[in-house]
Amino acid sequence: MAVADIRERVAKIAAAEGIDEATATAIANDAAGGIGVAGKSEAAAEALEEEDRVYIGLTTLASRERELYLEAHRDRLVSRRIADIASAQASRLQDGVKTASRAGYEAAVARDLGFSALFRLALLAYRRLGHKRWLAALLADRFEILLIQQAVQRRLAEFTSGRLAALLGAPTALTLAGILASRLGAIDRALAALKLQYPDYARAMQAKYLGRIALRLEEASYRGLYAESAISQEVFRDLSRRVSGRWQEMRRRPPLDIAVLRQTMLERVPLFADLAPDRLANIATLLRPRLAVPDETIIATGDHGDCMFFVASGAVEVRLATEPVRLGSGEFFGEIALLTHRPRMADVVALGYCQLLVLHTRDFNRLLEDDPDLRQRIDRVARQRLGKSD
Ligand code: CMP
Repeated sequence: MAVADIRERVAKIAAAEGIDEATATAIANDAAGGIGVAGKSEAAAEALEEEDRVYIGLTTLASRERELYLEAHRDRLVSRRIADIASAQASRLQDGVKTASRAGYEAAVARDLGFSALFRLALLAYRRLGHKRWLAALLADRFEILLIQQAVQRRLAEFTSGRLAALLGAPTALTLAGILASRLGAIDRALAALKLQYPDYARAMQAKYLGRIALRLEEASYRGLYAESAISQEVFRDLSRRVSGRWQEMRRRPPLDIAVLRQTMLERVPLFADLAPDRLANIATLLRPRLAVPDETIIATGDHGDCMFFVASGAVEVRLATEPVRLGSGEFFGEIALLTHRPRMADVVALGYCQLLVLHTRDFNRLLEDDPDLRQRIDRVARQRLGKSD
């Protein structure tokens, strides 16, 4: 890479200074000879199979990625902890490449974008014990990591079309760019899912991130002015003190509130929309809120059904044999097993973060006994669904 770099720079200087190409090439070769690889790098690169080039490209990308996280920390865009987590993920990419080249890299990307065992444990603690601080902290981390990963992917794309293309050739660079683009797509989707569920938090986090960039620029401009003697040491010190006070504020993370009020969630379900307020309050006590994460299987075909769900926000997909059906905010599912006492007829999977309301069998029966009109409405939807899947 150093050789490619020297060539590129010498060629640029030669063009700017009006020096002919042959001289420039000879000089560049001399310089490259200094690190003992003149001529060898091209010969070696040419002898490589495409597969080897992709392997080299991906390992280089993974180690460059690690450097970029450390740089981001040095620039104070992310905390040490977040930089460490992101850089450990980049190391796992590197291990993936070593074990299975491109497939290994892609498998490591998929694993890291998924939810860890720790995250699932936090989700469980929230569901079972109502312990929400742990989950909120992990979700906030995920937000920050995805944001910095998104920014770093863009830098890696530039690195690929520039230096890696010079080193490994345009066709390999194109393959690498494709791998990066699909990774960026997956990161974008994961972020979009979070933003959809927590729009205010997303805005606050992005404002902080931009604020940190602005503060760093401000700092650099004061340093520049001081270096040019445009401001005195005293003024510089004073400005620096003020800036460091603002850094503290910029480092603080906005709080993430994952719980949505049950009553507010209920109001989003049309089935309950025209009920009297006291009746609504009564139903609210029967429903348990539950957060589902992207791709989580909420209902598995063949399982025994002991509850039904209302979607307060987000969307789920019912994976029917014929074709999948999407259900969104305000709709319900899982009622058929309760009404027919048969096993679950399809998988139901969360498409993004979903706030669900869970109604257990006993409460379901009690609710429908008390309200024949509600029973009729749920029955009607269930019959329609059963008709469609016959
Ligand atoms: P249950 O069988 O308990 O679990 C799977 C659920 O998928 C089922 O209840 C219904 O709520 C839902 N479901 C089945 N068929 C359809 C359909 N055609 N349209 C929408 N939802 C459906």
